Amino acid sequence: MMEPDNMSITDPEMAKNSLKEFAASFQNTIEDFLPEAEGMEDQVLSAMRYALLGGGKRLRPFLIMKSASLFSIEMNYAARVALAVECVHTYSLIHDDLPAMDNDDMRRGQPSVHKKYDEATAILAGDALLTLAFEILSSPKTHPDAEVRCELIAKLAKAIGAQGMVGGQMIDLKAENQSLIESEITRMQHMKTGALIVFSCEAGAILAKVTGERRDSLIGYAENIGLAFQIVDDLLDVEGSSEDIGKTAGKDEQAGKATLVSLMGTKKAKESAKNLFEQAISGLKSFDEKADILRSLAAFVLNRAH
Ligand code: IPE
Ligand code: IPE
Ligand code: MG
Ligand code: MG
Ligand code: MG
Repeated sequence: MMEPDNMSITDPEMAKNSLKEFAASFQNTIEDFLPEAEGMEDQVLSAMRYALLGGGKRLRPFLIMKSASLFSIEMNYAARVALAVECVHTYSLIHDDLPAMDNDDMRRGQPSVHKKYDEATAILAGDALLTLAFEILSSPKTHPDAEVRCELIAKLAKAIGAQGMVGGQMIDLKAENQSLIESEITRMQHMKTGALIVFSCEAGAILAKVTGERRDSLIGYAENIGLAFQIVDDLLDVEGSSEDIGKTAGKDEQAGKATLVSLMGTKKAKESAKNLFEQAISGLKSFDEKADILRSLAAFVLNRAH
């Protein structure tokens, strides 16, 4: 979509390829973890599997793995956090697509969960994925130290509750009938999308018990790519095709969504995303070449076409 400067350290291709490979292996991680549907409740498990295994970029799990690899920790721990976060993200998409919310019949190139099953099943599958995330984090398999587990649980809860993702989704819906100014849109986007991305980057530092400047730098990086990610999502809604983005294009304008694209037009929104990308890169100054994959990922976030 846009050409970032300084291509040498921020070539989006490096992250694009690495993310693709990771997404394929993450499919097996999910497959191994989720129980096969059985019993009278099988429909909810089957809907959870359908949604979780139905593709997706796996951006948040990738961020968790790559942020965690900056520190010396057991990568199996990070993989469990990645699974928990993808459960949360998938729940948010299932509910976001419901008729009472964005009413989208297509997700990740397939029928949305409420179309494939029914609305009640979609609500329950979302509820169960959200709950499963906390079950995963609470297990000693995620980290032997209970304090670390509690910190993961508390930070994730805060990121996705009424002061985070859910709150942002509430504002998003209310803003269909009222206009927001730029700072209000930015705040909404930070809540609905940024907060979970920030948690994903902070998780490695939590697992490694790293605080201070290194943790703050990662948070700063994540705040910037989180906002850029939602701006590009909003741009793709306008400029992408349903086939490419795997969900119905052009829905935001139809619903009267408040986005930076609707407020300032595509050109200015692209400039904003590029500024955020540059800030994200400068936020990683204190990390050496080990963080190049995160730098490249920031470029991918800006350039992605789906
Ligand atoms: C879509 O997220 C919802 C937003 C927060 C913009 P993704 O674009 O990461 O969706 P998948 O997981 O790749 O399908
Ligand atoms: C969704 O934003 C944010 C969350 C699911 C939390 P959108 O409504 O723009 O996401 P898409 O475009 O449907 O994926
Ligand atoms: Mg939405
Ligand atoms: Mg939506
Ligand atoms: Mg969107």
